Amino acid sequence: RGAMAEERALAMVTCTAPVNIAVIKYWGKRDNDLILPINSSLSVTLHQDQLKTTTTAATSRDFTEDRLWLNGEEADVGHPRLQACLREGECPPPWAPPGAERGVPCTSPSLCPLAVRRLARKRRGDSAEDGTPLNLSYKIHIATENNFPTAAGLASSAAGYACLVSALARLYGVEGELSEVARRGSGSACRSMLGGFVQWQRGERVDGRDSLALQVAPETHWPELRVLVLVVSGEKKQVGSTAGMQTSVDTSPLLKHRAEVVVPERLALMMRHIRERDFEGFGQLTMKDSNQFHATCLDTFPPIFYLNDLSRHIIALVHRFNAHHGCTKVAYTFDAGPNAVIFTLADTVAEFVEVVRRSFPPATNGDQFVRGLPVGSASLPEELVTAVV
Ligand code: DP6
Repeated sequence: RGAMAEERALAMVTCTAPVNIAVIKYWGKRDNDLILPINSSLSVTLHQDQLKTTTTAATSRDFTEDRLWLNGEEADVGHPRLQACLREGECPPPWAPPGAERGVPCTSPSLCPLAVRRLARKRRGDSAEDGTPLNLSYKIHIATENNFPTAAGLASSAAGYACLVSALARLYGVEGELSEVARRGSGSACRSMLGGFVQWQRGERVDGRDSLALQVAPETHWPELRVLVLVVSGEKKQVGSTAGMQTSVDTSPLLKHRAEVVVPERLALMMRHIRERDFEGFGQLTMKDSNQFHATCLDTFPPIFYLNDLSRHIIALVHRFNAHHGCTKVAYTFDAGPNAVIFTLADTVAEFVEVVRRSFPPATNGDQFVRGLPVGSASLPEELVTAVV
């Protein structure tokens, strides 16, 4: 075979995608299948130099089946959410004909923009069987890796699905709005499709076409903002977000009140704090919203506990630190796990990291205690040590 023929046999792309941390939390779906939320949410997308997912997707006429590797180990490619992102000839509910088995041809393709391969057909014209490298009927191999603990409440599924959708879109040459495809993988993934400050708007439509991620401000808007991740535990969480939020929707009156009354007010306020780069307002509201999310978890029946004693120690430490300074210098937020994400500004990083170092002395992992961007040294005033550490 000549060079041309080789080229046509395989197409491959590699993408990376960032983690995002919600400051107004998403918790609860109004449609489980389309992954439509009960409230809008707002997040900050993190830089990819420390935390990211890398995905390589390849398609070839020589592949005999779709295959998937997660962090080097082969995983089940039949996962319904993965299929929702991948699928082309099949209908995800609710478009499948009643009682249809998996694999039936789509009856309403125009209503079903949710699979990347189908989008490719629609936007590029049907190129199946035409022998191009991007032949849409070729099987696909996907390898994806996180450089941080998977499923420990560090938004790995968000970066993972955002990365998968980006890789597939590049592979098949699909452009334009893709957050609604990423959303079908994991709700919070739609926010990782954009950088900076991102809102996932709830949307009104039953088909979800208006439940999209939108950039509120680019990352350059607030360059002093910094994020510290305090890894409390790298273990897999006990109650996954999907199951947890379903139980909350079914049982928590507080969650209903939050979605209907609290979040709409907070969202408008948070947008203003971001626009004005008001860390006092941003930090306070971030902490309050995290606390209310965990309150809805306690209000869920049976209750869900994501925070542990160490998480609560960190919360208390942050409040002592802020009280000592007489203003909000650092803010915590926790997702579906015990790890703390701390927002602060560049001028506070060294001092706060030193406070964490003194409060939680690194016993066995000295060298690895602080990773990431270089942190300057800070000597703590005696009265700060007495009041805070
Ligand atoms: C607590 O996006 O992981 O991190 O849509 O079921 O995949 P699914 O849930 P997921 O939930 C994230 C919940 C959260 C808050 C947030 O990121 O907004």
